Order: sequence, then structure tokens, then C-alpha cells
Amino acid sequence: MDTTTDKPKELENTDFFTVAKERRSVRQYDPTHKMDRSEIREILEAAILAPSSSNLQPWRFLVIEDQAAKEELLPIANNQRQIVDASVVIAVLGDKQAYKNADRIYTQIAERGNMTPEVKDMYVNSILDNYGSAPEDRLSRIAMIDGGLVSMQLMLAAKAKGYDTVPMGGYDADQFVNAFNVPDNLEPVMLISLGKGAKAGFEKTRLPLEDVLEWNKY
Ligand SMILES: Cc1cc2nc3c(=O)[nH]c(=O)nc-3n(C[C@H](O)[C@H](O)[C@H](O)COP(=O)(O)O)c2cc1C
Repeated sequence: MDTTTDKPKELENTDFFTVAKERRSVRQYDPTHKMDRSEIREILEAAILAPSSSNLQPWRFLVIEDQAAKEELLPIANNQRQIVDASVVIAVLGDKQAYKNADRIYTQIAERGNMTPEVKDMYVNSILDNYGSAPEDRLSRIAMIDGGLVSMQLMLAAKAKGYDTVPMGGYDADQFVNAFNVPDNLEPVMLISLGKGAKAGFEKTRLPLEDVLEWNKY
């Protein structure tokens, strides 16, 4: 029930507010459009600048570019056409064991002189203690929150580069994990179709800000 036959808007101006306003979930793509891996990498490089809990960057990406793999994903994702028509589908995953990279990440920070080696050791030990003893559902929640942030940044970066996206939660996560050999420590956050939009998404409909905003305390 698309309300328009227009193509997605090509942005001349990619300042943040324009990109945020013009990004829409696009569900119809040019199936002939191929994206270079270099363009996909450029979008992902911008996406991974997103913030994350303790800077542990738990996001992992599985870029599904082979048509046969997209066809396999199609029924798992409720036969949503954008799965096969977009250039690629990016599965955003959250690593529940991302805390195991703490030393690597904080060593980089210390080597840049942004932290003394002693402070770095303190941080790393505290992360290993806290995250290492956290229940699985807490690690999963953190991975989901950080995965959501990186996903948003990915979609905005794509729009700024002249591409369109749609985030998808409408798929069977268990089937996806099985079919694509996703390791146990990775949890699916969402799928994102990425490509050249053929038809604009719906115009934005949002509740008025006043309906979702309170100040200071509930
Ligand atoms: C977590 C999440 C899951 C979504 N799942 C689907 C989906 O499976 N299929 C779909 O067509 N759109 C999906 N959407 C897109 C929403 O319908 C869309 O973001 C919303 O209608 C607002 O429109 P906009 O993105 O154009 O601003 C999903 C969005 C989010 C954030």
C-alpha cells in the first residue's frame, strides 16, 4: 500500500538534518543495481563510529550479497521482496562475548596516550569482572542496544551516500541462525536491506513530539 510511485529522493544536501528527515524505509529496489564492496565498506566504516557500552563494539556484520543466499533468506524473512531485490542484506549481529576484546581495545587507547597503562589495566579488569559475570540476558540486552545504535548509523550513512535501506525484524531468528551458521555468541539484532531504491518509502508519520516528551520526571 505504497502511497507514492516516486523514486526515493536523491539528496543534494547531505547535512545531518536533511539525511535524518529524508531517510525512509524503502521496500522496493532496483534489482539490477550492484554495489561495490568498497561502497559497502565505506558505509560500514561510518556505522562503526557509533557509541557502544564500554566501547566494546559488540556489533558484527554478515553481508549477504550472493543472490542464492538472498533467495535462501527470503522465506526466513517472511518473503519480503527487499531481501532479494536490494543489492545486499546486512545482518547486524551482537556479540555477547565482546568483552573478551577489552584488552585489545583499551591497549589501543593507552597506546594513543589517552590513558595510562595502570588505568587501562583497571578498566580491563573491571570489564572482564563485570561483563564476565553478567547473566546472558544482560549481555544480550547490551548487544541489542549497541546493535541498534550501529544500525541507525548505518542507515543514515547509506542515505548520505545515495542509497536506501529498510530495517527488518520480520524474520525467524532461529531459522536464520541455523541457515547461515551464525555462531552461538552472536545474536541477530536486525536485517537491513541496502541498495538503490526504486520507489520511495511512505512519507513520515510520527506521533507529535508533545505526546512522547516529558521533562524532568514522570
Ligand atoms: C526493529 C525494526 C524492525 C522492523 N521490521 C520491519 C520489517 O520486518 N519489514 C518492514 O518492511 N519494515 C520493518 N521496519 C520498518 C518500519 O516499519 C519503519 O521504520 C517505520 O514504519 C517508520 O518508517 P520510516 O523508517 O520510513 O521512517 C522495522 C523497523 C525497525 C526499527
